[in-house]
Amino acid sequence: MKHLLSIDDLSREEIENLVEEAVRFTGEKTKAGAVAEKSVGLVFAEPSTRTRVSFERACRLLGRHSVLLGAGDSSLTKNESVEDTFENLVALGCDALVARLPDGVDLVRLSKFESCPIVNAGFGREEHPTQALLDLVTLFDSVAEGDWDALRSKTLVISGDLLHSRVAGSWAKLAEKIGLKIVWNAPEVWRRKQAEDLVGNYVGSREEALEKADVWMALRVQKERFSSEAKTDSSSLEDYIRDYQVGKEDLSKAGCFLMHPGPVNWGIELDADLQDFEKSLILEQVRIGVATRAVILRFLSSPTQI
Ligand code: CP
Repeated sequence: MKHLLSIDDLSREEIENLVEEAVRFTGEKTKAGAVAEKSVGLVFAEPSTRTRVSFERACRLLGRHSVLLGAGDSSLTKNESVEDTFENLVALGCDALVARLPDGVDLVRLSKFESCPIVNAGFGREEHPTQALLDLVTLFDSVAEGDWDALRSKTLVISGDLLHSRVAGSWAKLAEKIGLKIVWNAPEVWRRKQAEDLVGNYVGSREEALEKADVWMALRVQKERFSSEAKTDSSSLEDYIRDYQVGKEDLSKAGCFLMHPGPVNWGIELDADLQDFEKSLILEQVRIGVATRAVILRFLSSPTQI
């Protein structure tokens, strides 16, 4: 059974084909055909705006019905296991499952699930593969204008709370697979060993990172994790803003594009003056996420067709 639980589940060729297919798919009204009349179960045990709505829109584009279990809606709150929840949704007519689940889900066990494909829509802090893939589609389409060599000549800076970011977890693997240059920019306390081991260089200072950047991708500072972990507090947040926040003047001078997976903390990782930045791709990421997720759902239904 083909799942998308991690970037590890895709080959470089599959990634490149998915990206090109997502660009082709953007703007098309429907691609029903082979997958019409099928239901996709959306299990969102944690809050989401972009991911949840874009999967709902993707299902609609594919002519597929979607059923949503929102945070607090399901019997997961009565300690039903994730596997039992999924098996019951299959029994109820779902033939693909998209799930956002809290930390602690056993990906190895889920990878053995045989009843239908599962898409990881953000599990805890480990990975968010569809977000990294839609970021890649945005880069390929808007920055490299459909040219893989041009994309590989660019440097993507990923800056912010890498430690808690599942997007960083998927990007570390994705960049290595497709051969994209990444520079990680984060204070020591938010660095991520996995990313350091896998790909790219850490650059401590914002100024050095700005010199290298063709694209600046900021990640959300996850303030909700501060109280439960001693690693960060409000005084280090003030230090972070002083040393790592970027604004319009920084990015204009560097001549780089701006990306962010959202939601953005305006005034923390990004100055609010970037809300109308002309080289911002933030809403383009959201827009292209619908096509990307539609193509991913179609691919998992028929992996040999891509
Ligand atoms: N980027 C992202 O996953 O956003 P949501 O939490 O709103 O889905």
